[in-house]
Amino acid sequence: MTQTVLYIACSLDGKIARSNNSLDWLFAVEGDGDNGYAAFMQDVGAVIMGRKTFDEVLVLSEDYPYPNIDNYVLTRQTGKQSEHATFTNEPLDVLLDRIGPTVDGKIWLIGGGEVIQEALRLQRIDQLELAIAPVVLGSGIPLFPEGTLETRFRLTGCRPSGQFIMATYDVLK
Ligand SMILES: NC(=O)c1ccc[n+]([C@@H]2O[C@H](COP(=O)([O-])OP(=O)(O)OC[C@H]3O[C@@H](n4cnc5c(N)ncnc54)[C@H](OP(=O)(O)O)[C@@H]3O)[C@@H](O)[C@H]2O)c1
Repeated sequence: MTQTVLYIACSLDGKIARSNNSLDWLFAVEGDGDNGYAAFMQDVGAVIMGRKTFDEVLVLSEDYPYPNIDNYVLTRQTGKQSEHATFTNEPLDVLLDRIGPTVDGKIWLIGGGEVIQEALRLQRIDQLELAIAPVVLGSGIPLFPEGTLETRFRLTGCRPSGQFIMATYDVLK
């Protein structure tokens, strides 16, 4: 069965971006090469993200970073279009059930927090891969927003990568 993996970077206090969406704090952290990103991507057959994350991806990247695989963007707006992604308001579990059988590899749930909260509510995240940056932001967009379903994890791996801790977990259901 296709695995859905949440692969994401966060601060020590569990933020994924500043309140104004800035990732300056993340780019300032010294990593080790690509921190395993290329190897991770080799197994990814599709990506899913929230509309706010998609907007930020477009702002941040000169070349669209996830070409040649299916990209799905969750939105409640109608009529949105992009050359890079399919916009959908399908419930996340329905989307996962629909695309899962045809995806060649893992599904990368990119984020952000709103979509993660929904995915955990539906218990549809199988693995968590966190790149933890050594910074406390004090405020910002949370990895797990207030009200997220209580969820238990099992640590499956942990390694330093430059100044990051790369921690992998299975989600216990
Ligand atoms: N540190 C990292 O590695 C990392 C990774 C990912 C994202 N981020 C950051 O996280 C921030 C965005 O996170 P966020 O929590 O504010 O927003 P988000 O989860 O990326 O997007 C929220 C939007 O997704 C749509 N949405 C959410 N749930 C939905 C559902 N069940 N059905 C249909 N549409 C749904 C809605 O779009 P509409 O408003 O269009 O209806 C909603 O406004 C950005 O700054 C991004 O850069 C950081």
